[in-house]
Amino acid sequence: MKERREKILKLENVHKSFGSKHVHRGVNLELNQGETIGLLGGSGTGKSVLLREIIGLEFIDKGKIIFKGQDIQNLNEKELQKIRLEISYSFQSGALFDSVNVFENIAYPLFEHTKMSLNEIRSKVAEILEMVDLKGIEELMPSDLSGGMQKRVGMARAMIMRPEIILYDEPTAGLDPTNTKNVVDIMKKMTCLGYSSIFVTHDIPAALELCQRLIILNDGIVAFNDGPEEFKKSNDPIVLKYKQEVHYAGSEGEK
Ligand SMILES: Nc1ncnc2c1ncn2[C@@H]1O[C@H](COP(=O)(O)OP(=O)(O)OP(=O)(O)O)[C@@H](O)[C@H]1O
Ligand SMILES: [Mg+2]
Repeated sequence: MKERREKILKLENVHKSFGSKHVHRGVNLELNQGETIGLLGGSGTGKSVLLREIIGLEFIDKGKIIFKGQDIQNLNEKELQKIRLEISYSFQSGALFDSVNVFENIAYPLFEHTKMSLNEIRSKVAEILEMVDLKGIEELMPSDLSGGMQKRVGMARAMIMRPEIILYDEPTAGLDPTNTKNVVDIMKKMTCLGYSSIFVTHDIPAALELCQRLIILNDGIVAFNDGPEEFKKSNDPIVLKYKQEVHYAGSEGEK
């Protein structure tokens, strides 16, 4: 069934270097419509760079990034801005604007890119805050929020334009188990609503819970690309090395 789903995003033979550092050496990756994939890999393997390439914040040296049949490499800045409304990036840090309240943080893209009235925007923001379980906090400033709440406000902002793809860069990093669960629950809701997403994480239990497919970036290429069950069972040395790196002991001893 999976095979018949439309491929919304496709990376073909992507190469990227910073000076002499060859970060991507031919990355191939496909994201199906409605699918959530987990993007794993050691620190510095190029996961965040890959997400930035997908929204055109980083140019690639060779290869193709195809979103809904269109190679984004050929687009100008204005066209890329349109793509960034359809592919939303939830940053590694919450990346909120410190000087304005939660409402303005979330509403910003709506003021910027739509002709919605203030009332419409207010109800849209209220709706999205309810979705991330933060009802009624419009007037609070980012400094009033806990780290976990800031992450969720950042997620709300990433969702407000109803993008087709959401890229999550380590949304649970640095969170305690309760806040991690809150964030994972929101991502689950998004998956159930049919959004496609790429979840960059070092949190294997969260990735196994959420993702239909897991990918490991290693040495500039996709070294593993299979389902959660296959990941758990795998004896591939790259998978074993990665599990060891993140201290994942599997079912006998969850982290
Ligand atoms: N703008 C840049 N200029 C030079 N080097 C960069 C730049 N951005 C990233 N790099 C390098 O590219 C490599 C990949 O970085 P990236 O941030 O994608 O790693 P990552 O897989 O996200 O790691 P982590 O899990 O620690 O977040 C690193 O060696 C990093 O130093
Ligand atoms: Mg990163």
